[in-house]
Amino acid sequence: MTDYQTAYRQSMEDPEAFWAEVAEGIDWSRRWDKVLDDSNKPFYKWFVGGELNTCHNALDRHVDGGRADQAALIYDSPVTNTQATWSYRELRDEVAKLAGALQGLGVGKGDRVIIYMPMVPQAVMAMLACARIGAIHSVVFGGFAAAELATRIDDARPKAMLSASCGIEVNRVIEYKPLLDEALELATHKPGACIILQRPQAVATLVDGRDHDWASLVAASGPADCVPVQATDPLYILYTSGTTGAPKGIVRDNGGHAVALKYSMKAVYDTDPGDVYWAASDVGWVVGHSYICYAPLLQGCTTVLYEGKPVGTPDPGAFWRVIAEHKVKAMFTAPTAFRAIKKEDPDGEYLKKYDLSNFRILFLAGERCDPDTLHWAEQKLGIPVIDHWWQTETGWAIAANCMGIEAAPVRAGSPTRAVPGFDVRVLADDGSEKAAGELGDIVIKLPMPPSCLPTLWNNDQRYLDAYLSKYDGYYLTGDAGYKDEDDYLWIMSRTDDVINVAGHRLSTGAMEEVLAEHPDVAECAVIGVADELKGQLPLGFVVLKAGVDRSNAELVPELVKQMREQIGPVAAFKQATIIKRLPKTRSGKILRGTMAKIADGVDFKVPATIDDPAILDEITEALRGVGYPKA
Ligand code: COA
Ligand code: AMP
Repeated sequence: MTDYQTAYRQSMEDPEAFWAEVAEGIDWSRRWDKVLDDSNKPFYKWFVGGELNTCHNALDRHVDGGRADQAALIYDSPVTNTQATWSYRELRDEVAKLAGALQGLGVGKGDRVIIYMPMVPQAVMAMLACARIGAIHSVVFGGFAAAELATRIDDARPKAMLSASCGIEVNRVIEYKPLLDEALELATHKPGACIILQRPQAVATLVDGRDHDWASLVAASGPADCVPVQATDPLYILYTSGTTGAPKGIVRDNGGHAVALKYSMKAVYDTDPGDVYWAASDVGWVVGHSYICYAPLLQGCTTVLYEGKPVGTPDPGAFWRVIAEHKVKAMFTAPTAFRAIKKEDPDGEYLKKYDLSNFRILFLAGERCDPDTLHWAEQKLGIPVIDHWWQTETGWAIAANCMGIEAAPVRAGSPTRAVPGFDVRVLADDGSEKAAGELGDIVIKLPMPPSCLPTLWNNDQRYLDAYLSKYDGYYLTGDAGYKDEDDYLWIMSRTDDVINVAGHRLSTGAMEEVLAEHPDVAECAVIGVADELKGQLPLGFVVLKAGVDRSNAELVPELVKQMREQIGPVAAFKQATIIKRLPKTRSGKILRGTMAKIADGVDFKVPATIDDPAILDEITEALRGVGYPKA
């Protein structure tokens, strides 16, 4: 087996040869003409001229190749007390019929389909059905409100929408259909059809002529075959938070994505065909796209789809039960899930009830992994616990301890080294490279490996401005950090207005836009403050309009309600405070970083450019009023 250094060096010295060899693991209906097309820099394309179908590679290929009766998808839902399994053949047949239903509604190659669904197996089937007919899916996380869904409808302009009557949050039934209807009212673009999965917990009212009942439509449809698409055709669009309120539509291509994701299953996660792999995330996030749906199926694994929480469904032993019952070999979740378990079961009493002998490796990502959580998991589980770092834009790990190539010693707090294919550098503002141990912008030298975003949906210019303009020839990750003497990466913070709440990526800029809409608010700022459980929580500061006299007790509930209605419960926005004025630089820039440091109780320097240093005392006092810094 190749060692890490050799694999990494090969990927850097001759990326085309490296990825061409990896691409042999995928079925192509037409072989590519060129592995990497760099004729239109800084836009790069992988496997140009190649044709394939991602759904064929995820399902049909395994049905034809001897895995027809192996479990492809296990649905485990403690919130509905249900478990169900689909073999590769059964899943292929279900997906083919749903794809036929979509075709029957006129959906074809290149058309967009929005999927707004809870954690039910039909969500995965919907993604694969779109892939089967060459339609481009865009999954919207269920915790987003109607207004956010409407923004995505107007940007993606879908031909059809797939949704369900409800989701279940622990023991609360969340009706999705009213949110869908409201979003369709708000949106300018009107998709022709909606397919609604009726769940017994809440039955949705269907709109005549627009809405179709999922079960009856699929039952009446014939199966659709896989439609070959160009390697460079989009497989999906996934919206993610950026600096402003308008989310960025990350585009994922078909060819590069299939190649890189299949590669990652062995190289990063050390899983082989037939293994059971579980990503405890949500289909609405990139982790759900890559590691609940696509990668495990491309690799011929069994994937687990879990509709529940780490705690409360029903207890902090929930993860251990799933691992034991389904013989999970590798699991992937966010550190916050482990912090939640550790809080409720610090001594790991629930672990003792289950046979975890098949469980080999735990992977964590989505936010910084604090060493306490890492060590707790290591001690309690007695298996490797591997932090790895990536983002929606890449679709797979940028830095990881590549367990299927060569395991490296773990350094708590670091996601280890760059994964083969990623040339990760740390730069100073002038573009020079930082020395080991020095903090700077973490960037990836172009071209990035397969699966990374080729552009933003319908917005090449924003792609260039947001990612490629700061340093010529480099992709800006938006994270700051450093490399140590041994090239281990240390991811320290975001450099933009993105915060990470319970592993969910949120934009403080978007939250500020919501607060600014309140009639009493003149100016506002939202910062991320440290939180023991969720990593970070948003905290709002509002300056009232002249003549308005409101108290925190009166105003804050209104702001919280407005945030839930506009962005959704996932924003976890529950705290805000009124202040007289915002701290700013002389040129008018709000000093959010300084405010966050005061809230977190960490040392800070008064910025030399501050307009009036006395404001910081007012901020300190206002923060004390809402319990910051925490003891
Ligand atoms: N549909 C509707 N509402 C949703 C939702 C969905 N799909 N997902 C979350 N929400 C709601 C929650 O119910 C909660 O509502 P509340 O404010 O009324 O209580 C709110 O959005 C915030 O959700 P969250 O931040 O996830 O908090 P939580 O208290 O429900 O759960 C954890 C906390 C840590 C248990 C949970 O976040 C978790 O398991 N996270 C780790 C795994 C993960 O999903 N990582 C993501 C990327 S890997
Ligand atoms: P998302 O696009 O939602 O996956 O969020 C990506 C962002 O989450 C990254 O840019 C980082 O800021 C953060 N992140 C993800 N994984 C890690 C990690 N292992 N360590 C530190 N930060 C992480």
